[in-house]
Amino acid sequence: MRKKIVAGNWKMNKDLAEGLKLASEIVNMVKDEVTKDVTVIITPPFIHLTSVSRLLAENNQVLVAAQNCSEKESGAFTGEVSAAMLRSIPVQAVILGHSERRQYFGEGDELLAKKVDMALGSDLMPIFCCGEPLEIREKETHAAYVSRQLKASLFHLSEDEFAKVVIAYEPIWAIGTGKTASPEQAQQMHLHIRNVIADQYGKEVASNTTILYGGSCNPHNAQELFALDDVDGGLIGGASLKSRDFLDIIKSF
Ligand code: 13P
Repeated sequence: MRKKIVAGNWKMNKDLAEGLKLASEIVNMVKDEVTKDVTVIITPPFIHLTSVSRLLAENNQVLVAAQNCSEKESGAFTGEVSAAMLRSIPVQAVILGHSERRQYFGEGDELLAKKVDMALGSDLMPIFCCGEPLEIREKETHAAYVSRQLKASLFHLSEDEFAKVVIAYEPIWAIGTGKTASPEQAQQMHLHIRNVIADQYGKEVASNTTILYGGSCNPHNAQELFALDDVDGGLIGGASLKSRDFLDIIKSF
């Protein structure tokens, strides 16, 4: 059975005091309110990871993830953070290939394949993002676009390695825009992703892969999205910065 996951991507928001406050609110609310088997992940900026991870030390309901890691192992790479460093905090997962990293920092398929290898090599769960820009959706070539992203950065992995990866489908036109994919659009793409995985790794691996939806997910639309056959949870941006909204999304299962 595949895991249900709700992950909050804080992006470049919250100073340390604000971040610790948000993390502790989330932990307490999860403890009090979440009864279903849902893995909750929070993804603060790098600089808060150690403090947030200490705050969560006694808690096994909420995991901590990073928003990126280096494709290099160690050495003279000023400003970079390695997968092994993250694991030593300890951080359990890392978001890779977010469209903002692809768009603003020039991260491409090949680089992302190396980052995925680094994450797996340090026992971090990669949350690998894919998703098409608006012009590709309008040309109706989004299915091929997303297949290519998956193939180029993930399909060099062995079956055992691939089984540790979580996929997040985030249509770029839905990120931070208030425009969510319709349930039909989300289900269609998630099923497509599962089929592409099945072609490469077989039906069992595909059916055990967690595929999250991301893009303007909020407490009002989460229930409908999470009820779809091939949607196993969400990667939440804006709404994960408010503990009440984030909890209501988690409880939408
Ligand atoms: P929003 O939920 O703010 O649209 O962001 C989605 C996202 O990019 C999560 O990684």
